[in-house]
Amino acid sequence: MNQELQTASKQDSPTEKRPIIFSAMQPTSGLTLGNYVGALKNWVELQKDYDCVYCVVDLHALTARPEAAALRKQTLDVAAMYIASGIDPARSLVFVQSHVPAHAQLSWVLSCFSQLGELNKMTQFKEKSDKHGATTGLFTYPVLQAADILLYQANLVPVGEDQKQHLELSRNIAERVNHYYANTLTVPEVFIPKVGARIMSLQDPTKKMSKSDENPKATIFLTDSADEIRGKIKRAVTDSGTEVRRGEERPAITNLLTLYHIATGESFEAIEERFVGKGYGDFKQELADALVALIEPISTRFHAIRNDKAALNDILKKGAEEANRRANRTLRKLYKKLGIVELE
Ligand code: TYM
Repeated sequence: MNQELQTASKQDSPTEKRPIIFSAMQPTSGLTLGNYVGALKNWVELQKDYDCVYCVVDLHALTARPEAAALRKQTLDVAAMYIASGIDPARSLVFVQSHVPAHAQLSWVLSCFSQLGELNKMTQFKEKSDKHGATTGLFTYPVLQAADILLYQANLVPVGEDQKQHLELSRNIAERVNHYYANTLTVPEVFIPKVGARIMSLQDPTKKMSKSDENPKATIFLTDSADEIRGKIKRAVTDSGTEVRRGEERPAITNLLTLYHIATGESFEAIEERFVGKGYGDFKQELADALVALIEPISTRFHAIRNDKAALNDILKKGAEEANRRANRTLRKLYKKLGIVELE
């Protein structure tokens, strides 16, 4: 476990209740190397010390209005990819958002505690509404995200850099609810890794690596074959010059060095030292080898898990049962404080 994770975590003791982690990904397409480095890799490590809840947020994905068959497939793909990457369903909760109605229910309540002004500041709404249209679903997307987190009374939310603003909003909403109804919701901390919080496109190092990039060479998917990975790294843009060294003026090679560091665990200094006097070609070849070694076993496990439909269904069913139990506890607590009538 890296040092930041260690400091963020608590001692593992059988008598002490572990602090709670919540995080999630949208099933808008297959998961990318960016998703893995920025989030999933840390989710796996955090399982050692936290009570982890990992969700596939299919309701959020509706904001992009996917084809029904694609959403069905991708929801199961993302759940299988969590497990293939090392999420252990015997230890952590894995489930699908729509299987727990309390997410939508709490989202409504929280929308009554959210301001138009603060939602208007969300940069992802501005970016995404150009593409998908300015629906109210897209506008209130971060409120549903707050509901996801707050339902489980999460202490920590491990995400990539792009989620920082949404997390700040979740904290503000939780604080506002607690202001009116003391001690109702846990105000979550955000966990953003120091390295790899924003993996960039292989074709444009000023843009985030994204599932939905129109250029297929820009993004490595966790299901890519060895040949596809090698091809994408070979064609990745580089900076002018030849030095394999990090620097603000070398954003493309800095991004590739980050991937190398993540895939091998070697320090940046050691990597830079080893490539002194060598060119981008040698570096890219070794980087491709390292990424294939990282991704190939994940991809193999993914296919095995995905092909065992009954086992995956069982995991998600059990996950939904326990998630419903926990989520309803928070929802009932808040409903009671709000004055929602409970029938005898
Ligand atoms: P999503 O599905 O876009 O991304 C999932 C996670 O992957 C991280 N990520 C990246 N990290 C580094 N470099 C990249 N290029 C990169 N691309 C993606 C994201 O930061 C994220 O951690 N709104 C969320 C889903 C969500 C959620 C939640 C997250 C819904 N409810 C509650 C946390 C807690 C999203 O769209 O993530």
